[in-house]
Amino acid sequence: MSGVSSEQAFKSEEQVVPVKPEFAKSAWIDEAKYKEMYQQSIINPDGFWREHGQRIDWMTPYSKVKNTSFDDHNVDIRWFEDGTLNASSNCLDRHLETRGDQTAIIWEGDEPDQDRTVTYKELHREVCKFANALKSQGVRKGDVVTIYMPMVVESVVAMLACARIGAIHAVVFGGFSPEALAGRIIDCDSKIIITADEGVRGGKTVPLKANVDEALTHPDIRSVERVIVYERTGNTAVAWHTHRDVRWDDLMKTASEHCPAEEMNAEDPLFILYTSGSTGKPKGVVHSTGGYMVYASMTHEYVFDYKDNEVYWCTADIGWITGHSYLVYGPLANGAVSLMCEGVPNYPDSTRVSQIVDKHHVNILYTAPTAIRALMAEGDAPVAGTNRSSLRLLGTVGEPINPEAWNWYYQTIGEERCPIVDTWWQTETGGIMITPLPGATDLKPGSATRPFFGVNTALVDNSGNLIEGAADGNLVIIDSWPAQSRTVYGDHHRFIQTYFKTFKGMYCTGDGARRDEDGYYWITGRVDDVLNVSGHRMGTAEIESAMVAHKDVAEAAVVGFPHDVKGQGIYVYVTLNQGAEASEELRMELKKWVRKTIGPIASPDVIQWAPGLPKTRSGKIMRRILRKIAAAEYDGLGDTSTLADPSVVDDLIEEHKGIS
Ligand code: WTA
Repeated sequence: MSGVSSEQAFKSEEQVVPVKPEFAKSAWIDEAKYKEMYQQSIINPDGFWREHGQRIDWMTPYSKVKNTSFDDHNVDIRWFEDGTLNASSNCLDRHLETRGDQTAIIWEGDEPDQDRTVTYKELHREVCKFANALKSQGVRKGDVVTIYMPMVVESVVAMLACARIGAIHAVVFGGFSPEALAGRIIDCDSKIIITADEGVRGGKTVPLKANVDEALTHPDIRSVERVIVYERTGNTAVAWHTHRDVRWDDLMKTASEHCPAEEMNAEDPLFILYTSGSTGKPKGVVHSTGGYMVYASMTHEYVFDYKDNEVYWCTADIGWITGHSYLVYGPLANGAVSLMCEGVPNYPDSTRVSQIVDKHHVNILYTAPTAIRALMAEGDAPVAGTNRSSLRLLGTVGEPINPEAWNWYYQTIGEERCPIVDTWWQTETGGIMITPLPGATDLKPGSATRPFFGVNTALVDNSGNLIEGAADGNLVIIDSWPAQSRTVYGDHHRFIQTYFKTFKGMYCTGDGARRDEDGYYWITGRVDDVLNVSGHRMGTAEIESAMVAHKDVAEAAVVGFPHDVKGQGIYVYVTLNQGAEASEELRMELKKWVRKTIGPIASPDVIQWAPGLPKTRSGKIMRRILRKIAAAEYDGLGDTSTLADPSVVDDLIEEHKGIS
């Protein structure tokens, strides 16, 4: 187990990879342009976004631009509020004349011999048909539609079809369990679920329809009228409920190809996406239409320096925000060729990513540090027999990238030819916030570098005082940007509490960061009880509540610990009920239990039996101590004298030594 040591971080701060002059020459944005545009965007946001808002098509042009308040009594965020538009026509119709026959999506199947290309014209036709299919099933403007799909073209069709008719999509990652899916369906009250018979990933099938069936047995779900099932594998054993289930193909057979795009207000919600926080159940983050589309398309073009006809591959699943903004809405709004891959980076073997790059002549590759670290573990094997000469730019997202992984990505995948954009952002921010621009920014491995246009970043101490210059602090954003989430679905109060109360008048990111002498940001990770496991956000409270729902568990405390591949692993301390036996079988059973309750991504890496947990006299678990023990840092546990029973710490250390 090794994290990014401070020594490594220090050394890397001295490593600078300057912008390559030949790259800067042809890039959209060079250093002078970055400085000029960034200045403008901060000094005069209204003027800046008035101009750049025009990069997308509006049905009714906006006259107002920015109307936002971070006042914690009345957070109210509106952009382009009197403009109207449709997100799907921005991704499709606007390209039909100029690039109708150009590829919109290259789909690469789980098996290397399966692929498919879809042109803008074809995608438009499919979306119109499916939009009509949704209407035929009673879906109306403003309804919420849950999408629980594998990585197939039809999942993009489903999202854009919702957007076309003004329905709000809520995509749920296909790796979530029936119970997690049920919770999200209940929260957003959707009447329609779109799914597939099964998904295919890394050579295994995922029983999506069976999971939906199980989710819908939840007693609190009464809203669901229809389940639309796309046939991916054709497994005939999939159960069928005649009054509720309909086949995607049957609906498409009769659906008309003509479907005018619904005129939406800029502030109408485009989608809901659930994400974990430090407390409570996952939040339905709501994004609206106008500002989101402007920002997603603009960041996609400038951060990836995207040029016409380039093949761009974002490896994220559509179940995450990265899939929404940088596989679907950003690239398609820009008329890009967007590659989507059904499988995983190391199936059938570790050369798969490089193979796909060569096969489809990928120019831009955007992936997660966890995938890079997994490949790096194989040395040079992941590039064997490939040349990757088409690659021009690399990107990462989701978690801090350690300099070692950065350098492997840079040297082995990109052969020192391709700049790397390390992009920091969040589900709530809608788009990339801190990032290099490849023609402008000298790179420092491990740093997300500088804010994007319109992003007013700052550091504050724990009392909310602004800190200037080179320093460590809490990362906040002091003014709104167009793609900012507008609310938590059904709970604006929670939105305000979560993001605007900690530091009054500022958006609190929940991340810590360091700013160096050059003004570069180095994200140090979450400062709250949120874990980042393989780039996936997970609330410790969520995992704890799953654990204590097991009959043998009295109490559980979850912390993260440094993990070579996942960045953070999940470490669970469990206090058992009287009479329950601390056996290896029970350990396995509890791991399975969490997988079943939340999904495989929440599966604990380590379960440690803890007859007692370190608590203060008022009963608060001291996670700081648990984190240290999980990381085997037995020294420097800090002051333990305030604990109700300090001796539990020694017991926990003994037990930890036993299992590590
Ligand atoms: C972390 C993913 C360091 C961060 C787009 C953030 C990062 C959380 C980076 C959001 C990065 C994301 N460097 N940390 N480049 N990108 N993070 O909502 O802790 O799934 O708050 O959005 O991931 O995760 P989310």
